[in-house]
Amino acid sequence: MAFEPREPQKELKYDELRIYTDEELSNYTEEELKNFKIKHDIPDVEELEKGPWPSFVADAKREALHRRKLSDDRMMIERDVVEDLLGQLQLSFDDGETHWKHGGIVGVFGYGGGVIGRYSDVPEKYPSIAHFHTLRVNQPASKFYNSDYLRTICDLWEYRGSGLMNMHGSTGDIIFLGTFTEQLEPIFYELTHVLQQDLGGSGSNLRTPSCCVGRARCEWACFDTQDMCYELTHYYQDELHRPAFPYKFKFKFDGCPNCCVASIARADMSFIGTWRDEIRIDQEA
Ligand code: HEM
Ligand code: SF4
Repeated sequence: MAFEPREPQKELKYDELRIYTDEELSNYTEEELKNFKIKHDIPDVEELEKGPWPSFVADAKREALHRRKLSDDRMMIERDVVEDLLGQLQLSFDDGETHWKHGGIVGVFGYGGGVIGRYSDVPEKYPSIAHFHTLRVNQPASKFYNSDYLRTICDLWEYRGSGLMNMHGSTGDIIFLGTFTEQLEPIFYELTHVLQQDLGGSGSNLRTPSCCVGRARCEWACFDTQDMCYELTHYYQDELHRPAFPYKFKFKFDGCPNCCVASIARADMSFIGTWRDEIRIDQEA
């Protein structure tokens, strides 16, 4: 049976939705990056740039430089947010403890989940991360995107957040890292009304259901993991957005016992494809 979306799907066009020009998007040279120093001394954090592996510190510095070179009216939160984030991490290394306060409740109208509140406990030192809330954005089944969509959310998050994101969090969601409370509603409006994109789960609600790539690309799939993930995500919308449980709860869908989304390890209810009965061979084929 062919897949049928529950609502008509818009085709997003980056050229119609974009915020930044090409010049703004590539606004520094590799030479400038080499000589770039952020405003805090971060010797221990910089240790994490060494070695052959990708480094979130190196990535964050790129973003910090990029924000330095954007003009003031092109960012809705402070330009220093990435630099302060790295500065506070160094302070945590020095003190041997975190400098994030416990989140507390922060969210968008009508939802009880999807936004995780974060506040610095040293805002006088790092004012641009006084608030640094995380948004969980519900990934599509098996995490398929086109570049129009990805570029559009990158622009949105540069404009209204820190520009830092995590593709994907361990929850499966796209994670937008760090914004101020005032930005939550505008981001939520843009995501839901313009981009047809919902927030994911957090707190004591149904967490964002997640599935393996399944029959979209894998020969092992014994059932349609994407279809089931999509159906249950819609069926349990209320539970996803309004925490009603005493604790979090998660569904995961693996098409076979290879368990690529780790449904056994990381879900409360695991769906794992298996053979229904004896293996049958079509001798005519
Ligand atoms: C007439 C003799 C043989 C035939 C027709 C045959 C055929 C095949 C075929 C069709 C495959 C599957 C390839 C695939 O994954 O697409 C295979 C896999 C394999 N064969 Fe053979 N084979 C024969 C003999 C042998 C012998 C003598 C050995 C070892 C001493 C052997 C060891 C293996 C192994 C280890 C695999 C890989 C299994 C796996 O990792 O899934 N085969 N063979
Ligand atoms: S769990 Fe099985 S069906 Fe799903 S992607 Fe992994 S190997 Fe394929």
